[in-house]
Amino acid sequence: MSTLIKGARPYGEDAVDILVTGGRIAAVGDELTVPGADVVEAAGLVALPGLVDLHTHLREPGREDAETVETGSRAAALGGYTAVHAMANTDPVADTAGVVEQVWRLGRHAGLVDVVPVGAVTVGLRGERLAELGAMADSAARVRVFSDDGHCVADPALMRRALEYVKALDGVVAQHAEEPRLTVGAQMNEGDRSARLGLTGWPAAAEEAVIARDVLLAGHVGARLHVCHVSTAGSVEILRWAKSRGVQVTAEVTPHHLLLTDECAEGYDPVYKVNPPLRTEADVQALRAGLADGTIDAVATDHAPHAVEDKESEWASARPGMLGLEQALAVVVQTMVEPGLLDWRGVAERMSVAPAAIGRLESHGRPLAVGEPANLLLLDPAHRATVDPAALASRSCNSPYAGRELPGRVVHTFLRGAPTVLDGKAQR
Ligand code: DOR
Ligand code: ZN
Repeated sequence: MSTLIKGARPYGEDAVDILVTGGRIAAVGDELTVPGADVVEAAGLVALPGLVDLHTHLREPGREDAETVETGSRAAALGGYTAVHAMANTDPVADTAGVVEQVWRLGRHAGLVDVVPVGAVTVGLRGERLAELGAMADSAARVRVFSDDGHCVADPALMRRALEYVKALDGVVAQHAEEPRLTVGAQMNEGDRSARLGLTGWPAAAEEAVIARDVLLAGHVGARLHVCHVSTAGSVEILRWAKSRGVQVTAEVTPHHLLLTDECAEGYDPVYKVNPPLRTEADVQALRAGLADGTIDAVATDHAPHAVEDKESEWASARPGMLGLEQALAVVVQTMVEPGLLDWRGVAERMSVAPAAIGRLESHGRPLAVGEPANLLLLDPAHRATVDPAALASRSCNSPYAGRELPGRVVHTFLRGAPTVLDGKAQR
């Protein structure tokens, strides 16, 4: 089966035709004609390599009422993703070869994106003893990213041991940087606003202290460290320093931390409660600058679906987390592309190439070139639409972008040449 994509603009550059055959890009050129091929009219659409998410909560097994591998995969494909890393804080926790293989198989069955399981660092995410990292790495799921996300690996000796293990496995520890002793009862960013709103503060130092500690440990061990959802200006400074010293550290920022601030907490609407919390305008500016200059390597969604009863309650009892997959690219277009901070190649680098490299995915994050796997998306950058949470593919509706107008619409997504999204509609 062949598909001929007519007139797309790879990385926003000159329009070309792209021929996809046997799951790979077979030709790129002007005015290609191929008898019998399915034709996709793509005039005006930007072609990018399929996006790769390093940080997705798919909730299966355990909370299939909030999301399943299938519904989350559909949301991902609609967002232009061809691979997502499924976080380990499921029930049961993905801390054994058996659970990561289960998630991997569910992803294959859904067939819309490559679902790449993340393995827990510690048994049950309890931060007491290491999980079977080697068995997860050797399993059919080939785990390379290990994370207790939702929890910080707070014990420095255990973190050091984890770094030593992942080094031997060519893996990486993805740390949720939060010193738990500094965030007991925390509800939002600590500052004047938290004091005025009467909500317990989550200080920037609780994140920065762990990042500072961990880059020192990663440098000492010579292992790879990845920092999840960086949220403060100080964290960007520490990462910049660590990279200048040659530490093998990478970092991600979420779409919501690039766009929203703690001002959102003013109305006590728990849709804006997230961990780490939304920060200040100065933090947002520093995160955008850090993503632009490469101090922050990747955008990762931290897509965190929650059932209505867990989210629509008073602020203090609501679970932290917000949806991200379907709007991530639109938010990056608004916050980075439209202000001129990133071009389309920069978007491809931060949302596909870098996350694929961090996760050691070989067939994602590849250039749009002949012979490469046909994992790609086609985006209409001029299209603007208002987000309707009821229309999202996710099983949950806790989108912080509800009612916002955002630019850019993913029109088509292809996974190994097969359309997973055609004309804005998921194909399964
Ligand atoms: O807001 C968050 N939600 N932060 C996390 O670290 C975990 C996530 C979740 O699982 O809901
Ligand atoms: Zn987290």
